Amino acid sequence: MVQWWYGHNAVGFFLTAGFLGMMYYFIPKQAERPVYSYRLSIVHFWALIFTYMWAGPHHLHYTALPDWAQSVGMLFSLVLLAPSWGGMINGIMTLSGAWHKLRDDPILKFLIVSLSFYGMSTFEGPMMSIKTVNALSHYTDWTVGHVHSGALGWVGLVSMGTLYYLIPRMFGRKTMYSTRAIELHFWIATIGIVLYIAAMWIAGVMQGLMWRAINPDGTLVYSFVESVKATFPFYVIRLLGGVLYLSGMLIMGWNTIKTATAGKYEPVPVPPVAAHA
Ligand code: HEM
Ligand code: HEM
Repeated sequence: MVQWWYGHNAVGFFLTAGFLGMMYYFIPKQAERPVYSYRLSIVHFWALIFTYMWAGPHHLHYTALPDWAQSVGMLFSLVLLAPSWGGMINGIMTLSGAWHKLRDDPILKFLIVSLSFYGMSTFEGPMMSIKTVNALSHYTDWTVGHVHSGALGWVGLVSMGTLYYLIPRMFGRKTMYSTRAIELHFWIATIGIVLYIAAMWIAGVMQGLMWRAINPDGTLVYSFVESVKATFPFYVIRLLGGVLYLSGMLIMGWNTIKTATAGKYEPVPVPPVAAHA
């Protein structure tokens, strides 16, 4: 329990809180709109800080951890859906009145789609923390899929959007060298993530069902090795997803070098974003 107190807070604070800080700063900057609700962002922060602390036991369902502690963990995980979605909606609604910018600004696409993945993984997480669902998902690749819809979709895309905002300013350029390369990176990364997580969902549910299948005489229908063999094609799909994601990063690397080496340094002023009255 002590280990998962740290483990779960790593998810909550290494992989969520800092990136929410980036989201709250860079979406308004890139969209040139104030945060939809400043008040909601404060509630979001404190609700996450308070609720995440209690959710660690969802990693320990059906272990030696006392049953009541597992139930507390499940309950708080379900509660976590509310602040997480409040924050996601706050970020997405920041675009209200500026939706058209999404059409031709790939940096905003990164930032907004990352929020959709944040919403998706924080919906999936509470569902997986329900004990009966966890009985199927635990130890399977479903968990790995959940991890990466957060890690690649949320943490990854929001970081890339942030970097695309910062890099031209760092080198004194108005924009990145190639906007089309950003667009290409966005699509390659998104398709890569979808391949990764869809493969892991299918693999995970299949593994869970295979492991629990029992013959009328009480013996297991499948050996473990059979479940590994059945999973193999999905690992190939994940590999493809990973290669696409990596290719996107290589495009970003190329675009960054081109941006850094094209033209002279000219400071780009960062306009302030007005706060809501
Ligand atoms: C409302 C928010 C969330 C809830 C309630 C939640 C819940 C869960 C549950 C139930 C598991 C499976 C535990 C198991 O069976 O072993 C899990 C695993 C995991 N989640 Fe989430 N999740 C949430 C959001 C996120 C986000 C946003 C990320 C990443 C950015 C993330 C990263 C992880 C990681 C890394 C693991 C795997 C831990 C391990 O076993 O190594 N989660 N989460
Ligand atoms: C191309 C990108 C990536 C690929 C192909 C990839 C692939 C993998 C694989 C194969 C595993 C082992 C899963 C297993 O235990 O069976 C794993 C685990 C993990 N990865 Fe990634 N990864 C990528 C990027 C990332 C990023 C960017 C993060 C964090 C922001 C991340 C966080 C994690 C975590 C927390 C685990 C442990 C999951 C668990 O315990 O269930 N990964 N990854």
